[in-house]
Parts: sequence; C-alpha cells; structure tokens
Amino acid sequence: MIGTAVKILRTAKSVFILTGAGISAESGVPTFRGSDGLWKNYRAEELATPQAFERNPGLVWEWYHWRQSIILKVKPNPGHYAIAEMENLFPRFLLLTQNVDDLHRKAGSRKFLEIHGNIFRARCTVCDKKIGHTLTPELPHCECGGLLRPDIVWFGEAIPQDVWSESINFVQQADVVFIVGTSAVVYPAAAIPQIARDYQAKIIEINIEKTPISDFVDLSIIGKSGEILPKIVSELKQT
Ligand code: OAD
Repeated sequence: MIGTAVKILRTAKSVFILTGAGISAESGVPTFRGSDGLWKNYRAEELATPQAFERNPGLVWEWYHWRQSIILKVKPNPGHYAIAEMENLFPRFLLLTQNVDDLHRKAGSRKFLEIHGNIFRARCTVCDKKIGHTLTPELPHCECGGLLRPDIVWFGEAIPQDVWSESINFVQQADVVFIVGTSAVVYPAAAIPQIARDYQAKIIEINIEKTPISDFVDLSIIGKSGEILPKIVSELKQT
C-alpha cells in the first residue's frame, strides 16, 4: 500500500492534501463524529450555529474555550510533520484543512489554507474586525464595543470563497490528491474527490476505517495518518 502510494508520488509535480479531524486525533484533539462528540449533552451541530450564538453567546464561547483549552495543551504529531515536509518535496503543493486547531502551522506547514477558520481567532459581530484570541472568562468585546464571535465557519454559514476557489483551481491541475483523516461526508470534503476524478488526479485516502469514498478513490490506505504519512515521506526521500 505505502509502496503503491510512493510509486504514484514519484512522478507527481503537483500535490494537494485535504485533512480533517483524524489528522489531529493522535495529538489528542477529539474528532467530531466519534464517541467524543458529546459535551454537557450538546452536540457540535447544536452549538456551532449562528442561531445558537444569538440565543446564548456565553454558552457557545464556553464550548469554544473548552475546546481551545484542550487544543492549547496538545502538540502536532508525526502526521502533521510529515505533511509539512511534503511541501518541500514537490514543485507545487497545497494543503487545505478543515481543522481549526492551528496544528499544521505549529508543525511548520506554510502552504496551507483553512476552510473552517481558526479557533485562536475571533471576529467582531459589528465591524467584522479579526483579532487573535485566547481564553478569557468573560464574553469578549471588540474595541468598537461589538460582541466578538469565534472566527469559525458554523453550520449553515458560507465557507470563505477565496479559499474554496484557490483550492479548486489547484485540485483541477493536481497530479495527486490526498484525503486524510476526514469522514468525507461534510462539504467540501465530499466534493473534492469528485472534482479530482473529473480532472484526472490520482486520489489517495488515509483513514483508520473505510469511509463513503473508500471504494471510489484510487488507493485507500487503512491506518493512522501519524504512522502512514511519515513512512511515505521517508521512502520518498530515499529516492
Ligand atoms: P470527523 O470527526 O467527521 O471524521 C474524522 C475522521 O478521521 C473519521 O473518518 C475517522 O475514521 C478518521 N480518523 C480518526 N483517527 C484517525 C487517525 N489517527 N488517522 C487517520 N484517520 C483517522 O471529522 P471531519 O471529517 O474533519 O466542521 O469533519 C468535518 C467537519 O465537520 C469539521 O471540520 C467540523 C465538523 O462539523 C466545523 O466545525 C465547521
């Protein structure tokens, strides 16, 4: 399996990687659809919405503080570091992450885009200004007086169009598209494999279990991204 991936990558000039919560699971960040999905009897889908924030901003901030406090304690794992190395192995490279945990940046990735925002940023609900933000006990406010919200794309909200178009333009000319640690059911993860196929990219999936796209991709590697990716990178560097 790893040998097949390396063979595909050896001639690749342009590589795109999509990551989801699974890439950070080995760092200790809970995924969304696993057994860790519960918090005080709320589901992510019930808190990560503009309506939830309007109803009870304190509760939504409390949930983000809880997630931020977990993320502040964790470190990138070998999967993040392997991806950071990969950007130097190909003439063209782009990473798109659905994660908000900042771990790709901490691992040294530079050529990456975030499609769901970043948990360490807040945005003013009045003037739209973005600021770096870490834990505060009270509801945070902007200097204009407006209430700050997490700079995260919530359910029912539009994804950033510039990030999406740059990603799609890249996928359309990519030789290889990786889908790593995502259940591949939430848009845009669900759309990228089809676009990659339409434009003749080879698609490689890495996940600890089969997903709805496993039978569709060219190569489905079942295993932990923190174990598989470093092996791929080390074999690539030997040649
Ligand atoms: P999910 O929690 O839906 O899926 C995580 C995937 O990672 C699952 O398919 C797991 O099998 C897989 N996985 C777990 N551990 C792994 C490991 N060590 N190596 C490889 N794979 C592993 O998370 P996402 O697909 O990222 O949106 O969810 C997509 C979006 O839905 C999230 O960005 C979030 C959520 O609602 C927002 O917050 C806006």
